[in-house]
Amino acid sequence: MKFKKYFRKSSIKRIKEGNLFLQEINRINPKTFLEIGIFQGVLAKNVCDLMFKNHGADFKYYGIDIFETDEIYKDEIAPSLKINNPLKRLYFKYIKKYNPYSIEAVQDLLKVYKNNIELIKGNSNTALKDINLKNVDLIFIDGGHDYSTVKNDLNLSKKIISQNGTILCDDYNLTYAAGVKKAIDEFIQENNCQYQIFLERFVEIKL
Ligand SMILES: C[S@@+](CC[C@H](N)C(=O)[O-])C[C@H]1O[C@@H](n2cnc3c(N)ncnc32)[C@H](O)[C@@H]1O
Repeated sequence: MKFKKYFRKSSIKRIKEGNLFLQEINRINPKTFLEIGIFQGVLAKNVCDLMFKNHGADFKYYGIDIFETDEIYKDEIAPSLKINNPLKRLYFKYIKKYNPYSIEAVQDLLKVYKNNIELIKGNSNTALKDINLKNVDLIFIDGGHDYSTVKNDLNLSKKIISQNGTILCDDYNLTYAAGVKKAIDEFIQENNCQYQIFLERFVEIKL
């Protein structure tokens, strides 16, 4: 399965890296995937494509994001502020007519999977408590990058590793957000977890 950018921004910049990421998700083969930090939904779309290929319509994607630009830009279509590519700016302003960071934009990108997805607008530190994690196979933590948010996301996700699920964290190697690594290292030690780092930035955690 090839990683696609869907003319949007993603934290995975290089297609080659995206392909290797998808290869790893394919190996884990989740049927229910929860992503904390959806951004423009590129990773969500790729993971849904993969789960659809592997399980047909029998899969579920949960995504949590604060979608804070929904509030900031509510009176403005496609804010130019964060879209550097002029073609993309025109595309979102005149063709899509929405802010690519909005929940509406992610719903549009994922519309073929509308029966399989649940997008939750809120802070993961509280929103996670409202999701039944019983059947979740994989939680991908890529939301707030400060120490306490990552630690809290990990602690609230803990249940799934005791039911043979996997926690996957991004940005373990970010020097400007060192709290991510600190929170992950502590969590692994406190809970005696097995872990594996891949592509130097992702940490796969299991019991
Ligand atoms: C690095 S981006 C996620 C990238 C995305 N996973 C991808 O691969 O394209 C981080 C996202 O987390 C969201 N975020 C930050 N703090 C959050 C929190 N406490 N709860 C939920 N979402 C949060 C931001 O709005 C942003 O969209």
